[in-house]
Amino acid sequence: MAKKLYIKTYGCQMNVYDSERMAEALAPAGYETVDAPEGADMILLNTCHIREKAAEKVYSELGRLKPLKAENPDLKIGVAGCVAQAEGEEIVARQPLVDLVVGPQAYHRLPQMEAATRAGERAVLTEFPQEDKFDHLAARPKAARGPTAFLTVQEGCDKFCAFCVVPYTRGAEVSRPAARVLAEAQELVERGVREITLLGQNVNAYHGHAGGLAGLIWALSELDGLARIRFTTSHPNDMDDALIAAHGTCDKLMPYLHLPVQSGSDRILKAMNRKHNAADYLDIIARLRAARPDLLLSGDFIVGFPGETEADFEDTLRLVEAVGYGQAYSFKYSARPGTPAAERDEVAEEVKADRLARLQALLKDQQRAAQEAMVGREVHVLFEKPGREPGQWVGKSEHLHAVHVTSDTVGRGDLAPVRIIDSAPNSLGGEVVGAAR
Ligand code: SAH
Ligand code: SF4
Ligand code: F3S
Repeated sequence: MAKKLYIKTYGCQMNVYDSERMAEALAPAGYETVDAPEGADMILLNTCHIREKAAEKVYSELGRLKPLKAENPDLKIGVAGCVAQAEGEEIVARQPLVDLVVGPQAYHRLPQMEAATRAGERAVLTEFPQEDKFDHLAARPKAARGPTAFLTVQEGCDKFCAFCVVPYTRGAEVSRPAARVLAEAQELVERGVREITLLGQNVNAYHGHAGGLAGLIWALSELDGLARIRFTTSHPNDMDDALIAAHGTCDKLMPYLHLPVQSGSDRILKAMNRKHNAADYLDIIARLRAARPDLLLSGDFIVGFPGETEADFEDTLRLVEAVGYGQAYSFKYSARPGTPAAERDEVAEEVKADRLARLQALLKDQQRAAQEAMVGREVHVLFEKPGREPGQWVGKSEHLHAVHVTSDTVGRGDLAPVRIIDSAPNSLGGEVVGAAR
């Protein structure tokens, strides 16, 4: 009988991709994935270390799993992802429930580690092994799957922003060779995937293709059956001319870009070690919009970085006003052990909270305006799943807006023209106005 594997995923899209690959790595050991922890033979928490709250969740979740372990002494519990990498042995010491701790660069070793836990050991692996995990991970299955997929092409970061744990949890920047990426993309397309989102902590630093990320995108665009390409997350300093130009010339590259800036204050950007200023960022945005006027921009912001004054924060508000984001994420600064900024004096919590509320109000207005601007326009929607109402289908537009329609002519994986008729807080409503492809 198949053993049951439950994986709970926290954090960024790369963890979503990694969770899929971990499930595939354990399939030859007889595991099939289930969507609830009850009755599982193995539970893996794929964790995130980016902010204190994210890291704390791991220990509270482990506490909640205790009764399951009491019911089933054969249940194995593992911690994967960035908390595993950052805390390693400490997790095993602090939480007797944990049988296995595996860092993001060692997922190909999971089958041996699982076997070790069955032999009664507690397995911990957080080194960065010499071999590349992608060369050793189990072959991907051939079964049909949904129309969208993530595909990691680059991992790690050499930027060392003063606040960020990623260079420590994911290691140095590594790009997968283009031939491997193209082969994996081809397999995904054969399984029914029509939209691929290329992932990397700094995806636009990709150098596994002679033409960089733009070269890889052009190569992918040759795949018949692949309709849409996206990528995330980019760093402003790696936004080269070829990639900017591709936004205007590559039909399969979608008009949406997540380009975090973190702050609009040059003083704070310097203290963050971002190595660009606000004007550099605005210049990149102007060039992108010249290439693709309807590009929808998304960003990340941190408020209350150590030393941020009211004037610095107002610079961030001004930058947001100048850009006009369609969508964005914003966070209170969270000191992370081991990062340079964690040594500095913190901004008071209530000041952070006040700034976050003001920034989020502005970003929310911009998001609403961007959505309302779509009303009356025709977009193309790639349908992913049935909606909550009977007969309803939900998918994403070119601009990554969630769009729902009520129609009996579309189904999962169809790409159809839709006229947008209304805008709700987090989605658009529309009607299908032509044949699905
Ligand atoms: N590689 C991406 C994303 C990294 S993490 C990039 O370079 O932009 C995602 C976001 O989390 C960051 O963009 C940043 O806005 C936020 N973040 C990272 N560390 C943080 C910290 N210590 N406190 C608060 N937010 C943080
Ligand atoms: Fe973190 Fe900066 Fe690297 Fe992004 S670029 S992952 S924020 S260190
Ligand atoms: Fe979190 Fe690691 Fe992603 S810290 S944001 S899961 S790279």
